[in-house]
Amino acid sequence: MKHLIPEFEQWKKRFPPGFDSAMVMLCVRRIQDDRGFVADSDVGELAAYLGVPRIQIEEVLSYYTQFRRKPIGRWHVQTCRNVTCSMRGAEKLIDHLAKKIGVAPGNTTADGRFTLSTVECLGSCGTAPVVMVNDTYHENMSIEKLDELLEGLK
Ligand code: FES
Repeated sequence: MKHLIPEFEQWKKRFPPGFDSAMVMLCVRRIQDDRGFVADSDVGELAAYLGVPRIQIEEVLSYYTQFRRKPIGRWHVQTCRNVTCSMRGAEKLIDHLAKKIGVAPGNTTADGRFTLSTVECLGSCGTAPVVMVNDTYHENMSIEKLDELLEGLK
């Protein structure tokens, strides 16, 4: 994380003095973009750098599902399982994905190709069910569309 500090220093200039704690989200996002996940060592280093309690960073990381605490596969397949998506067949999609990819939600394949996750509401309920692969939304999903999508993920 230390190599990102010059960048963080630039951001700090945009905040009023004494508001370093407001940078937690920005910094953890940048760390994740850099490393692919936020390691325990990053949390400690960031807490020391910003002068905030470690718990403040842990709270952000545990609340927002987009933050990852361990390495993930090349393709991160996240399926919404909240009410609207569930009513429109998300459970079947999740079961299908687990069977097809070969791991249960929350796990990564041994070859590092896929990580399968479930999330609560991707904010696109009007196009449920929704599956997100890395940063791309795939809406109005069906088993057939899912199979087609997986075929394209090499
Ligand atoms: S419930 Fe799935 S996107 Fe909102």
